[in-house]
Amino acid sequence: MPTAQMTTPITCTSDPLAGLDVDLVIVPWFEGDTASAAEGLDAASGGEITRALASKEWQGKAFDLLTIGIVDRGWRPRRVALVGGGAREAATSDQLRKIAAAGGLAARQKRVERVALLVRGQGDPAELAKAVAEGLTLSEFNAGSYKTGDPPLPVPSWTVVVEKTADSRIAAAVNRGRILGDCSNLSRQLANEPGNTLTPREFARRAAAIAGEAGVRVEILDEHQIAELGMGLLLGVARGSDEPPRVIVFRYDPPGAPATPVLGLVGKGITFDTGGISIKPAEGMERMKDDMAGGAAVACAMRAIALLQAPIRVVGVVPTTENMPGGRAIKPGDILKSAEGKTVEVINTDAEGRLVLGDGLWYARQLGATHLVDVATLTGAVVVALGKNVTGLFGTPDEWVDRVHRVADRAGDRAWPMPLFDDYREQLKSDIADMTNTGGRPAGSVTAAMFLKEFSGGLPWAHLDIAGTAWAEEAKPFLPKGPSGVAVRTLAELAFAMKEPNG
Ligand code: BES
Ligand code: MN
Ligand code: ZN
Repeated sequence: MPTAQMTTPITCTSDPLAGLDVDLVIVPWFEGDTASAAEGLDAASGGEITRALASKEWQGKAFDLLTIGIVDRGWRPRRVALVGGGAREAATSDQLRKIAAAGGLAARQKRVERVALLVRGQGDPAELAKAVAEGLTLSEFNAGSYKTGDPPLPVPSWTVVVEKTADSRIAAAVNRGRILGDCSNLSRQLANEPGNTLTPREFARRAAAIAGEAGVRVEILDEHQIAELGMGLLLGVARGSDEPPRVIVFRYDPPGAPATPVLGLVGKGITFDTGGISIKPAEGMERMKDDMAGGAAVACAMRAIALLQAPIRVVGVVPTTENMPGGRAIKPGDILKSAEGKTVEVINTDAEGRLVLGDGLWYARQLGATHLVDVATLTGAVVVALGKNVTGLFGTPDEWVDRVHRVADRAGDRAWPMPLFDDYREQLKSDIADMTNTGGRPAGSVTAAMFLKEFSGGLPWAHLDIAGTAWAEEAKPFLPKGPSGVAVRTLAELAFAMKEPNG
């Protein structure tokens, strides 16, 4: 099984389009661009762009595609695909990432072998080139890994074309985007694996390979070590399954890094969530194979952090188990004791993510984390609140949450802050224990986050609820159906932003 194969590098050039030894040139095109927007292109196509603009066949609407032939024999590429970018003011690096992914997917659909993409957009050219490299790389992901018929569509060789004036940081930025895209795809691959393949033990093995190869120290705690640490919440969830739980522990400790800050990343690693005794309805339950997407994001971000040599120490913790309704499974009303010592009355066994994360957050603190971020497919309620394209962002204090928000925006993981007023804690009151594990229907994603807050030990802590964003239920031009790889780039970039005052 592929775990962490290296992909071929993306070529970077500022040569004129006419001389590129490629089969297809992708050109982002914005509304209001005139036919002369890319030098010589209109003439080389025999005026095709002028014609398409005049007839309104082509207007540059977001992700529209116009393929034109090159008639000028002086040009080496034979075809150009214009990819619509929408309004020019919206030509951000985020939009360019999507344009590149859409262009890359279209090129693969046509089985093109060698593709170049011209970087056009607003802002720092290095930032734009990085986003393009990410987008092209994201287009390489294949969701149908178990299909035995036709082989997957081939992956073209990629060339990123930047203007001559662009500086030397561009090649580094493209390389960085390539790595971040690759790591996102590895995370998608993990999230796409079915529950019968990716058991907690197998998840731990693969995560260890993915991060270990890059130089991260990885330790896998087995059920005995977990018991010794007193992680009663994780053990409680694991009781219903014949598969033993694991805790995957990552340590990235670069030479010369300061003692603090230590970034602590915690990911939910439920390899399948049936709901347990509070069992889920059958419809759509197959989706619950991706209930470890947060854990996968942490593992793959650790890989990126090491490959890109982040300047600070980072620890990662992924508690992983199945949530099953076995004969020894926890039942509603059961009381569990967390490693931290707090007791929890389990009202609903389907609220298992917050349980395993409670012990996970505690352990990240034991490892010396000074700043916490957890990532989890935690609640259906966050989908009700924010939909399928926006990750729920929770935490405290505001400065830390804002920082995570800024980094997520730049990384192309859209997130939006949600409140954590003290009043919400009322909903977790238990008559018998320190708290319940559910707070009822109102503000379900908030009470889940309030539960996690109990285990943050007062450290700066942010929580990303990716239940809506981890999996695309409908294909978009830039994102096929299936796992999205959300949060990998955010977590990785955070390890760089923490040293900068406004990062
Ligand atoms: N893994 C689910 C959340 C989820 C739902 C992820 C839909 C992706 C899509 C989580 O473990 C869960 O079951 N949450 C419950 C909590 C409830 C019982 C308080 C939920 O959201 O219904
Ligand atoms: Mn659940
Ligand atoms: Zn779950």
